[in-house]
Amino acid sequence: MLVPLLFLFFPLLSASKLCHPDDQSALLSFKDSFSNPNPFPSWDVQFDCCNWYGVECNETTNYVIGLNIISNDLNGTIPPSLAKLKHLQHLRLHKIPNLIGEIPQEIGELSHLTYLVISWTNISGHIPHFLANLKTLAYLDLSFNRLSGPLPPSLATLPYLYAIDLSRNQLTGSIPESFGHFPQNPALDLSHNMLFGEIPVSLANVNFSQVDISRNNLSGDASVFFGKGKITNTIVISRNNLEFDFSKVSFMESLDVLDISHNKIYGSIPTQIIEAVYLQFLNVSYNRLCGKIPTGWKLRYRSESWDNSSFIHNRCLCGIPLDHPCE
Ligand SMILES: *[C@@H]1O[C@H](CO)[C@@H](O)[C@H](O)[C@H]1NC(C)=O
Ligand SMILES: *[C@@H]1O[C@H](CO)[C@@H](O)[C@H](O)[C@H]1NC(C)=O
Ligand SMILES: *[C@@H]1O[C@H](CO)[C@@H](O)[C@H](O)[C@H]1NC(C)=O
Ligand SMILES: *[C@@H]1O[C@H](CO)[C@@H](O)[C@H](O)[C@H]1NC(C)=O
Ligand SMILES: *[C@@H]1O[C@H](CO)[C@@H](O)[C@H](O)[C@H]1NC(C)=O
Ligand SMILES: *[C@@H]1O[C@H](CO)[C@@H](O)[C@H](O)[C@H]1NC(C)=O
Ligand SMILES: *[C@@H]1O[C@H](CO)[C@@H](O)[C@H](O)[C@H]1NC(C)=O
Repeated sequence: MLVPLLFLFFPLLSASKLCHPDDQSALLSFKDSFSNPNPFPSWDVQFDCCNWYGVECNETTNYVIGLNIISNDLNGTIPPSLAKLKHLQHLRLHKIPNLIGEIPQEIGELSHLTYLVISWTNISGHIPHFLANLKTLAYLDLSFNRLSGPLPPSLATLPYLYAIDLSRNQLTGSIPESFGHFPQNPALDLSHNMLFGEIPVSLANVNFSQVDISRNNLSGDASVFFGKGKITNTIVISRNNLEFDFSKVSFMESLDVLDISHNKIYGSIPTQIIEAVYLQFLNVSYNRLCGKIPTGWKLRYRSESWDNSSFIHNRCLCGIPLDHPCE
């Protein structure tokens, strides 16, 4: 009788004991911190917490390494008890409209965090300096929130950070000089904020994989993002107050999307732009450009097939696809 019973119960017992008790109690205090009576029905101590909604465990150690919550009706603030999930590597709090308050300091204690997403919520306050304590952080997305205040210069000290999306907040101040010293070639999205001031010259040192600073009030010289040897595929700097000579920029072959519209950019469009053979989207409209629109585009798009809306409202651009012929 004993043997079959063991066979019967051993799998069940072991299954129910995979999750570490410390992790389970940390998850329960996370859940209990919200005002909702029962936000996650699957978070029941009868079940292994590695099988709870949004919870990911390491298959060898069974420590909780991921928490991925999407919820329309979760009300409250980000609980400091999250820091008790000591092995957490991935944290994603996404599309939680009633998530409010600031990013708690305890997030800075999650020393294994590589992936941090808090997006489409109503969290507010500043982007905290203690994010720079997360030395393993590779991916940071704090887009679509109500964050305000300056960009923390210390973010640029993170050795593995390669994706930074802080778009669609209410950030103010200028881009820190330190952002010219990112150790990786990051994708940087600062669009739809209220940033102002000059673009730091130091940014010329960075080989951004993508950069979007559109819809701010930035001024000065954005030629720092260009350069033939770089690997950038997206440069979107539209709707700012940028003022520089476009004639002096050179284009990387990898460029796929270029939008410089609605600035005060002057000079001409360099013919070298045709070396950007992968260019699929171009918009230089609403600037102060002059001279002949280059011809001889190599690949997908020839100026003949372009809508003239990419070039309109400049000082004196001429040639196809605009109506004005060049002299
Ligand atoms: C969550 O907050 C919203 C907006 O404040 C409110 O309408 C709703 O009743 C709250 N729900 C719970 C469960 O507290
Ligand atoms: C799980 O933990 C083991 C042992 O620490 C480690 O070797 C492995 O890379 C981890 N797996 C994941 C997906 O983190
Ligand atoms: C923030 O809350 C308001 C209502 O209080 C809501 O309309 C808005 O969608 C929320 N923002 C996000 C990103 O969920
Ligand atoms: C943008 O910055 C300029 C100065 O560079 C300032 O005159 C203007 O008022 C600012 N616009 C907005 C909308 O903040
Ligand atoms: C950009 O990165 C590419 C690929 O890593 C490298 O070949 C190139 O030299 C870099 N360019 C600059 C200007 O750093
Ligand atoms: C270029 O930008 C202008 C100004 O925002 C816009 O009106 C036009 O439709 C855009 N053209 C293309 C091809 O995106
Ligand atoms: C742009 O194209 C439209 C339609 O083809 C034309 O009516 C308009 O005059 C053109 N505008 C310029 C500035 O070339």
